[in-house]
Amino acid sequence: MAIRWGICSAGKISNDFTVALKTLPPEQHQVVAVAARDLKRAQEFAQKHSIPRAYGSYDELAKDPEIDVVYVGTIHPRHLSVGALFMNAKKNILCEKPLAMNLKEVQEMIVTAKKNDVFLMEAVWTRFFPASVEISRLLSQKEVGEVKVVHADFGVPLMHVVRAVQKDLGGGALLDICIYCLQFVLMVFNGEKPECVQATGFCLDTGVDEAMIITLKFSGHRMAVCTCTIAAELPNEAIIVGTKGTIKIPAHMWCPTSLIVNGVETQYPVPEPSLPLNFINSTGMRYEAEEVRRCLLKGLKESSRMSHADSALLTEIMDEARRQVGVVYSQDSQ
Ligand SMILES: NC(=O)c1ccc[n+]([C@@H]2O[C@H](COP(=O)([O-])OP(=O)(O)OC[C@H]3O[C@@H](n4cnc5c(N)ncnc54)[C@H](OP(=O)(O)O)[C@@H]3O)[C@@H](O)[C@H]2O)c1
Repeated sequence: MAIRWGICSAGKISNDFTVALKTLPPEQHQVVAVAARDLKRAQEFAQKHSIPRAYGSYDELAKDPEIDVVYVGTIHPRHLSVGALFMNAKKNILCEKPLAMNLKEVQEMIVTAKKNDVFLMEAVWTRFFPASVEISRLLSQKEVGEVKVVHADFGVPLMHVVRAVQKDLGGGALLDICIYCLQFVLMVFNGEKPECVQATGFCLDTGVDEAMIITLKFSGHRMAVCTCTIAAELPNEAIIVGTKGTIKIPAHMWCPTSLIVNGVETQYPVPEPSLPLNFINSTGMRYEAEEVRRCLLKGLKESSRMSHADSALLTEIMDEARRQVGVVYSQDSQ
């Protein structure tokens, strides 16, 4: 049975997600409508991706009865209100990361999903890559012994991207990219809450973080370090160090296509795109789409691999890191 997708917003990531869906069998995934704030842009997007219906408002998409799930690809300060619009219209949603601006907003999203009995997942696509699934398998089978240290870094020059630097657009390295390092650490440590979070970093004149280093201390003498910056290219790798070996995730750790386990490399390529992409390896968003379909067919309201609790803990840690570095959004005082 095909899951009928609606795409909310006609921006960069929506383009890539729609291209990723096209790598899946059409009898399983169909894109039936797209909405943007501007009808012309929605129509152009629809034409480019051969989508039957285009709407000039998100309201119209919310009212479309032939949508099973909406992909929310708008900027993060809009996730809460736009997510609520769709969930209150009884639409399931896959919402881009970060799920919302802070823990209070994330909790509101979760309450809205539960109240409407709809599926809600934060689009942490990394977790659904075959390489990530393999990492979880290796860890559960103790292939590298007990994990003691995790390092992850994500740094790309984004200072020219307006939404990455402007506070009212949700700018800052943490919410945009460090979230991938943190979610990776939490995946490795099975969603365990760290005992201690310490963050240091610098802010731009706009008040958002240019760079952060976050250390996390877990029970049983286990630690993690995450480094992120929007001012420079970092190695963009991750490493899991256990008592009996290591798992290295070469660049790009947020969309992994290879793993080096105790020195032995295995490739996990993603499919070629049918249209140009804005971001690297974006066809790998197909794996999160498959998870959404699997959950919807089973009647599940959340994914156990990226659960509501996972999103809440991730956001709680980011709130704490922001508090320590001094990044405050208007949403924090609402
Ligand atoms: N999974 C990933 O790898 C990945 C990569 C990049 C981004 N993302 C996430 O995806 C989201 C969008 O990122 P993007 O790079 O696609 O952004 P983008 O292209 O700059 O903007 C996405 C959409 O947001 C809406 N928008 C832009 N500026 C707005 C404003 N000032 N007020 C209200 N709405 C505005 C527009 O929707 P309309 O089209 O309706 O006008 C736009 O098309 C972010 O939350 C980001 O964290 C994820």
